[in-house]
Amino acid sequence: MQITRRQVVRELIGNNIVPQQDSATAFASSNIALCKYWGKRDVELNLPVTSSLSISMSHLGASSKISIAEDKQDQIFLNTQYMSPNTIFYRRLVAFLDLFRPTQDTVFKIDTKTNIPVGAGLASSACGFAATVKALDKLFDWNLSPQQQSVLARIGSGSACRSIYDGFVLWQAGYKENGMDSYAQRLDYTWDELRVGVLLVDERQKSITSSDAMQATVETCPFYKTWPEIVEHAINNTQHAIDTKDFWLLGATAEANALAMHALMLSTTPSIIYTQAATLDYMHLVWRARAEGLGVFFTQDAGPNLKILFLSKDEPRVRAFFMDMEIVAPFSMVTEVIGCDYV
Ligand code: DP6
Repeated sequence: MQITRRQVVRELIGNNIVPQQDSATAFASSNIALCKYWGKRDVELNLPVTSSLSISMSHLGASSKISIAEDKQDQIFLNTQYMSPNTIFYRRLVAFLDLFRPTQDTVFKIDTKTNIPVGAGLASSACGFAATVKALDKLFDWNLSPQQQSVLARIGSGSACRSIYDGFVLWQAGYKENGMDSYAQRLDYTWDELRVGVLLVDERQKSITSSDAMQATVETCPFYKTWPEIVEHAINNTQHAIDTKDFWLLGATAEANALAMHALMLSTTPSIIYTQAATLDYMHLVWRARAEGLGVFFTQDAGPNLKILFLSKDEPRVRAFFMDMEIVAPFSMVTEVIGCDYV
């Protein structure tokens, strides 16, 4: 029998939904998967078919301030803009908040601030849900462990379970039906020289959500059965690359894994193509730079934008190839981010 989100939430927090303060604020970094999550074994609980491995994006992310409001319906603001109840953003967040209302009449006000484009394949929902879970934990004083917070965040959006942490993060697929063993954990490594550049091609919302796209892939792609082995192999290689600081192995593995995921989408019915002409131009530029000996690789999520991986020593040369690129040092020390402490 299908286990519901509500049952999982009750198992984690019981009936502990009495607010302990007026409001609470928390920040979560966005994360970029080096080995992708693409396909669910359980749609209700966002349980993945495979494990996945990501890198968190330091100060790029979302802060979420949550309070109890005196209104008729939830009030949601994104970067100070009121969100209409018929936006996907509003509906997804409200469906998630439904799981935590002290009474049916309780109304929440959520103030989300983000420094990345929303819905453009830059993991905005991941950091949004992770920040909301951290803020709820404070509001209700649950004191949940990071693992438990990761389970709650996963229920909001799969990849959000990785945004609970910074650095390299591994989300173990798990096998239990209630998903209590499907959470992310930080890998105990740092790599100070690693850099991630964000190449914006198009900031508009994507036409098909990653949830719908991955479901269509699972249901209709004739090659989907090859995916678990591809990801397992990629995760092993990435862990080895991190362990030995083998940047070329890390980059080559991430790039191949992203291309494999997009190959699955291409052969889904109907075909799903996030790549745009400018995305392809950038891919060719990456390959040209690499042919000149520069250690630079890309990864791509459910959108046309690319994330570029390279090492700090190559930053000037990489900048010459890719101007106007925001560069993140994932292991840099950050103390303050969009309006709240970096926690
Ligand atoms: C391509 O986590 O957005 O970014 O669980 O349905 O909310 P839902 O999907 P989501 O999918 C992310 C897909 C990806 C790959 C990844 O981040 O691993």
